[in-house]
Amino acid sequence: MSRPATVHVCSACGHVAAKWHGQCPACEEWNTLVEERAPAARARAGGGPSRRGAVAAAGRPVALREVRAERSPRLLTGIGELDRALGGGLVPGSLVLLGGSPGIGKSTLTNMALGHLAGAGRRTLYVSGEESAAQIRLRAERLGPDALEVPVLAETDLDTVLATLEAEAPEACVIDSVQTLGSAALESAPGTVGQVREVAARITEVAKRRGIAVLLVGHVTKDGALAGPRVLEHLVDCVLQFEGERERTYRTLRALKNRFGATNDCGVFEMREGGLVEVLDASARFVGEATRAPGSVVLAAMEGSRPLLVEVQALVSPSELVPPRRVCTGIDRNRLALVLAVLARHAGVATGSADVFVNVVGGVRVDEPGADLAVALAVASAARGVATQPSPLAAFGELGLTGELRSVAHPDRRLAEAAKFGLREALSPETAPTLRAALRQALGGGAQRAARAA
Ligand code: TYD
Ligand code: MG
Repeated sequence: MSRPATVHVCSACGHVAAKWHGQCPACEEWNTLVEERAPAARARAGGGPSRRGAVAAAGRPVALREVRAERSPRLLTGIGELDRALGGGLVPGSLVLLGGSPGIGKSTLTNMALGHLAGAGRRTLYVSGEESAAQIRLRAERLGPDALEVPVLAETDLDTVLATLEAEAPEACVIDSVQTLGSAALESAPGTVGQVREVAARITEVAKRRGIAVLLVGHVTKDGALAGPRVLEHLVDCVLQFEGERERTYRTLRALKNRFGATNDCGVFEMREGGLVEVLDASARFVGEATRAPGSVVLAAMEGSRPLLVEVQALVSPSELVPPRRVCTGIDRNRLALVLAVLARHAGVATGSADVFVNVVGGVRVDEPGADLAVALAVASAARGVATQPSPLAAFGELGLTGELRSVAHPDRRLAEAAKFGLREALSPETAPTLRAALRQALGGGAQRAARAA
């Protein structure tokens, strides 16, 4: 049996080797060789570039105003937040990558989206390399009658999937997940960089040619590791990230890249018995649930162009460990380290011998510098054991390394959102020039002294 030829290409220097090496023979980098189909094999399969060495005819550049651009109507998934993140629905012939950690609800979301489309009379296809058709049916039963209308194909062989796409020509298709499909032409296992790239490239080719809107599901582990989705980001038209803690009810969906719309808009979902439900009044819920206890502050965050109020909680307790624990969920660890350093150095709140826990309630993740002030206030309030005045208190602002508060984007919209939910006295760089001044306003003069004694 003759195997289709593959080569190993160094992703650092481009060196092409016949065999796989741990170290690139040319540039001596480690683990950079990625298996790819040899150019000849690729050309035979139809998708590859013209063979090297052949004399090619020149192309004819066209003025942009003469280029024909058809605007095909978008496919509405019926899930408002998903359509918003996509910039108004799925674009025919486009590729969307939906990334998220296992168990977050990617299969649920995509199955619901296809269900709505099928219910609206669209041709759909759900390809799963992860679950059997029976498992998918059990999930779909929870999602309502429309979800059961979706045709499924439980398959891991790329060529079979491509042939099915050609034969069925669905308008919208989900591939769950891109890491489980593999081409027999490559020797490496499904999920490796070479395979994931090959899968995406060949599906793109069919999708563009047949006008199929494809949603590629991709797993991302906590640290963004696992060969796969990251290498696809430049190949696809749109990258959506589904985030949250698996054990919690709230999840956020945001667009990290979108060729057809704005990025960084964020939708909030809740996982319920009957699937994912959009949370349209997220701010109201988070403020209503805020504890008003020491260590609790409401952060007026911006999620893209949308303001969102979330509760930040902190706990500071004497530690037995050296170094003490720094545990946070929903914010960046390095950002917490910076906030603690500025608190100690410029505001007299030292936590060097205490464990510090910081948590954004509800499993929401905030990745913006505007969160600094709320985190600092929550930690200081917890260290002192005194609730903020008033409580709940809304806050936002970035911390500078010299203890100053720095302006962040859209202060007016953050303030308006806070006022809408009854938090009239928000702390911000506009009301306090430094962290020390902010602490004095929120916790009174004794904050630093008490914290030092703790
Ligand atoms: P799933 O969509 O399978 O996650 P992913 O594809 O990202 O790995 O769903 C994840 C969890 O959601 C699963 O543990 C069960 C739960 N779930 C509900 O709570 N309600 C529901 O209606 C469904 C379908 C799932
Ligand atoms: Mg899944």
